[in-house]
Amino acid sequence: MLREEAAFFATRYEDVVREPDSTWEAWVAEAAQGVEKVLFVADDEEGMLGVVGAFRRLDPGEVQLVSLWVDPRARGRGVARSLIRVVAGWAQGLGAGRVVLFVQEANTPGRALYVRAGFRPTGDREPVGAGRPGFKLVVTATVGELLESRA
Ligand SMILES: CC(C)(COP(=O)(O)OP(=O)(O)OC[C@H]1O[C@@H](n2cnc3c(N)ncnc32)[C@H](O)[C@@H]1OP(=O)(O)O)[C@@H](O)C(=O)NCCC(=O)NCCS
Repeated sequence: MLREEAAFFATRYEDVVREPDSTWEAWVAEAAQGVEKVLFVADDEEGMLGVVGAFRRLDPGEVQLVSLWVDPRARGRGVARSLIRVVAGWAQGLGAGRVVLFVQEANTPGRALYVRAGFRPTGDREPVGAGRPGFKLVVTATVGELLESRA
């Protein structure tokens, strides 16, 4: 995911593999509790179709969606939209009213997906950073908008 589609993620594969396994084991263990952060996997009988993470931001009314990825063999079937709705449901359960995320300006499919799912740009953008050119845009939606958004 980070290696094959590096251009779409601000996090770099080479940085991630430098971290000790314990960092990611702790992340997953905390996500399994689903209180401050969470990880959802979509799968079928053939295996994993996609993944998405989310965490509660410092502002407890906001959840940040991260690391959305769908296996190329499963794309175009609504998997990403389903994962976004699952995150919105998780945010609602926490009492958060808004979902926020960053998408790279150059990620045309990603930007189209988020608009289709109900997000809109805030107008803010930041350099991608970590040695990457370009900018990432901030987009946001209310939980209600995401849950009401239909195919
Ligand atoms: C972007 C990505 C998550 C989309 O996953 P997906 O499961 O194929 O998306 P969906 O089938 O749920 O598509 C929902 C909407 O997104 C838009 N969309 C998805 N892929 C698109 C593409 N390649 N080109 C244009 N629009 C696209 C469409 O509007 C689509 O709605 P429609 O089918 O009614 O037209 C997937 O291509 C991916 O994993 N890309 C690489 C990683 C990435 O960019 N992640 C996001 C980082 S912010």
